[in-house]
Amino acid sequence: MKKKIVVLSGAGMSAESGISTFRDAGGLWENYDVMQVAHIDSWQTNRDLMLKFYNERRKQLASVEPHEGHKIIAELEADFEVVVVTQNVDNLHERAGSSNVIHLHGELTKACSSKDKECVVDIGYNEIHPGDQAADGSQLRPFIVWFGEAVPEIERAAFEVSQADILIIVGTSMQVYPAAGLIHYARRGIPIYLIDPAEVNVPARVEVIRKTAGAGLALLKEKLVP
Ligand code: OAD
Repeated sequence: MKKKIVVLSGAGMSAESGISTFRDAGGLWENYDVMQVAHIDSWQTNRDLMLKFYNERRKQLASVEPHEGHKIIAELEADFEVVVVTQNVDNLHERAGSSNVIHLHGELTKACSSKDKECVVDIGYNEIHPGDQAADGSQLRPFIVWFGEAVPEIERAAFEVSQADILIIVGTSMQVYPAAGLIHYARRGIPIYLIDPAEVNVPARVEVIRKTAGAGLALLKEKLVP
């Protein structure tokens, strides 16, 4: 039976594809007020700005490509059972060939009803405009988990981490919960690797690879693949 690798990825995973992270210098939260564009409390008062913010993210996504690191994760499926748990709302893991991806914070290429988040539609790279309606007649909104909202996929993600034989964390500052707490579901004694060019606060048992996602994953693949 193949060993199971769970990959926890964050914004740094997509940085080499040209998508900005949130908290680095020059990151998105330096140019936008997170409370205004990514908090559920703003939806009633700031709807147009929120739609514009995510329309821009979606448009950018259409113009970028997965990089070598995304491809390495997909290639690991030849030797391992691989589950990717990502905080990213882009589709670069899927486009690189990963077949089992859990999106904790939603997906840019989907929209949902603002009254019922389970009423989801694929929108590809198209914009959402004020007045666009979901099937139930309410305003269509980005299928994103905003701050102040529940994270419905967290239980499935925690279960997958608890089943992992190897855990790889890549490109996340580990500052946003509940995602950052997933590491604690890993079984005692399994190898845990963290790939990040900057210092991230993780338990001492974690083996830190202080490199970018592409270089770090290439190194780790050499080590893991027989
Ligand atoms: P952050 O922006 O908080 O952290 C990005 C991490 O990626 C940092 O630790 C960087 O050092 C690292 N990094 C930068 N370039 C890298 C590279 N080339 N290779 C590898 N790592 C690199 O992003 P997240 O931790 O993903 O949520 O943020 C978590 C959540 O906060 C996001 O999903 C988003 C945000 O607010 C919502 O909007 C709901």
